[in-house]
Amino acid sequence: MTPTTLTGTLLAASLLTLAAASTPPEQCGWGLPRSPLQYLPLCLDDTAGPDPSIWAPWTHKPFCVEAHETPWCVYTNAAVPRANGKRRGISIVTTPALAADVLDLTRHPLGAAFDAIPPEKKFDALPYEVRDVPGKGKGAVATRKIEKGRVVLIDHVMVLATAEFPADVMHEEVQDLLSRGVEQLSESGSVYGLAQKGREEQGLTEVEDVLLTNSFEIAVADQPYMWIFPDLSRLNHACSSNAIMHFSETTLAMTVWSSRDIEPGEEITITYSDADMTYAERKKTFSEVWGFDCTCNLCTASEERRNASDARRLKIHMLRERVLKRAKEGDFKRAIKATEELFQVADEEGLTPHMGDLYEIPARLYYQIGDLEKAREYTKRSLYQVEGLGVPGGKDIERVEVLKGVLSRIENEMGEVSEGAEENK
Ligand SMILES: *[C@@H]1O[C@H](CO)[C@@H](O)[C@H](O)[C@H]1NC(C)=O
Repeated sequence: MTPTTLTGTLLAASLLTLAAASTPPEQCGWGLPRSPLQYLPLCLDDTAGPDPSIWAPWTHKPFCVEAHETPWCVYTNAAVPRANGKRRGISIVTTPALAADVLDLTRHPLGAAFDAIPPEKKFDALPYEVRDVPGKGKGAVATRKIEKGRVVLIDHVMVLATAEFPADVMHEEVQDLLSRGVEQLSESGSVYGLAQKGREEQGLTEVEDVLLTNSFEIAVADQPYMWIFPDLSRLNHACSSNAIMHFSETTLAMTVWSSRDIEPGEEITITYSDADMTYAERKKTFSEVWGFDCTCNLCTASEERRNASDARRLKIHMLRERVLKRAKEGDFKRAIKATEELFQVADEEGLTPHMGDLYEIPARLYYQIGDLEKAREYTKRSLYQVEGLGVPGGKDIERVEVLKGVLSRIENEMGEVSEGAEENK
């Protein structure tokens, strides 16, 4: 499933180096340079000894299976804290090279996401509880009023697994790696608790079942990974949700923000599917990928309403492409026209909170045609979006700095323009 697709920082170069280097037979491990992960004993025998300090930052000895080009391993740190201080742990199932490059714990301060959020935006305790919701099994129901723009939940990844294994790794071996990964976690129950019943007949383990129906697929540097965020998984889908997700590559955490005021007793929902999916696409994705029917108010609406919604979502898709095309052609006026139309259709469809990333486009376009007033307005909206909804850290901080710089430049220019106008009087 692909609610979020992100591009990360894996360096293709280091993979190439790896592929080119042959492993000297006497050398235990894969001769990998740099990161702490890469010094791990990767031998499949016990010559590395039982000393856990050698495995740092992992609390369990990495376990690997051999494959043609590289082994596939499971790495666990059962002590990585999560937001509320409980030690829940993280397990990663991938190759040593991918683990070292993408999931270098020195670059990913796991657990830092909570501290980075300003106090006035977060709650001391979870503002919801998981309860039975008629027709949906369990869901997250607000236990207090949640104002727009508050942090509803910060969830850290517990299991992270490469989405594709090489053909020469046997299915039983993949199952073994995944099961070990979960077993080794301090709070493995949070993962097992997500399993549905009745998958065993299909020859699937509980962990595979959880991965199939509860994982989020997020690509890091074009490598698809399945991510399990156990608390996030408790939030149901709505086609026009009242909360939005934000994934941080810096902390590997998923943060959920309220996109409008939520009243006590109201269910908190997120949108799993892309905003421009139509009814038929949504229905197909839901049953094939997530294993349940889409039952949000849009999926169960009358055919007439569904058709109207489909038309708007297709239009959003088309307008997005048109904006980019016109902007590339340098036809800024028409690009602006398409942007304004896009925001209007998104508003009619209740998707405005999901369009936040797009505000930078009209800001740039208006600047290009010299409409500084409008450029400032959209830059401010964009800044509000990134500052208000982004998890501070890494890329978001950089983007905030860039936007602040742009804003002050626009304001300077506006000052000069109005001074010039006064002088001309
Ligand atoms: C909805 O759209 C479908 C497919 O385009 C069409 O066959 C159907 O007649 C439409 N229904 C209504 C009520 O407009």
